[in-house]
Amino acid sequence: MTKRILVYRPLDEGQLARLERDFHVDYLPEVSRAEDPAFLDALTQAHGLVGASLPITPKLLDRAPHLEAIASISVGYDNYPVDELTRRCILLCNTPDVLTETTADTGFLLIMATARRAVELAGMVQRGEWRESIGRESFGTDVHGKTLGMVGFGRIGAAIARRGALGFGMSILYSNSSPKPALEDELGAQRRDFNDLLAEADIVCVTVPLTPDTQHLFGAREFALMKSSAIFINVARGKVVDETALIEALRKGIPHAAGLDVFEREPLPTDSPLPHMTNVVALPHIGSATQETRTAMADLAVANILAALNGERPPSPVNAST
Ligand code: DGY
Repeated sequence: MTKRILVYRPLDEGQLARLERDFHVDYLPEVSRAEDPAFLDALTQAHGLVGASLPITPKLLDRAPHLEAIASISVGYDNYPVDELTRRCILLCNTPDVLTETTADTGFLLIMATARRAVELAGMVQRGEWRESIGRESFGTDVHGKTLGMVGFGRIGAAIARRGALGFGMSILYSNSSPKPALEDELGAQRRDFNDLLAEADIVCVTVPLTPDTQHLFGAREFALMKSSAIFINVARGKVVDETALIEALRKGIPHAAGLDVFEREPLPTDSPLPHMTNVVALPHIGSATQETRTAMADLAVANILAALNGERPPSPVNAST
């Protein structure tokens, strides 16, 4: 019997052809909700899934009795019930490394755009309101030479810090569950207790994964600890932040401004005040969204599912025991 792979994110022709060599592919690139009848129908027969973003719940897994492996086109895997997958002997794979530098670029884009008020001021030009040299009230703040506080110091956090230290002469602080001596040597980074980092950093940049421990890691208390001039950047997951508390804090002016690529609910509800606040730069979760990197991520996901369904060790498993 030919095994079936349900693909629910766009792949290019070459990637699809690689899957179709040995497997039957149900290709549903437009699916945005797990309740989609075509998705549910294909799920009942699927041995493999290739996709991203949809929350895969134990209830959905009950509808997938043949499922052997999932290849997520993402590095984050907070939308999968990992323990439940392991219990059911379903292999989960993700796409680390190939997106590190692009996501770090997005982090730095947000740091620069937020500090220099680029979106707000570009809007002024676009509306034809640039009639004289801008005054002090529109000046931004410097990024070079400032203190960058990384909350989470994994691959992406380190890549953002590297840009800051080597490109912008920034001092690097980090808060992380384990010390990172190699990065301390390379970048002069100093480890700080979380609260101390919040108080000392000019720019606080979050790159932690979403776990039960990091859900709402940032709330009213944490924002109140920051400098009134601080800039808050989130390229991790929206749920790491209590968004209501963030909106309130930004209205009070502490932190001074925020650059956000991720939100508690995505797409961001149209009634959210965040995109309308002049001290906020809001992006539609584009951390890894370049042609090159999304292609590399999909290539890796294809390699993962092919290996997993052929009984080989995939390149980047999340829950493999060996
Ligand atoms: C990731 O790869 O986890 C990105 O955030 C896209 O979801």
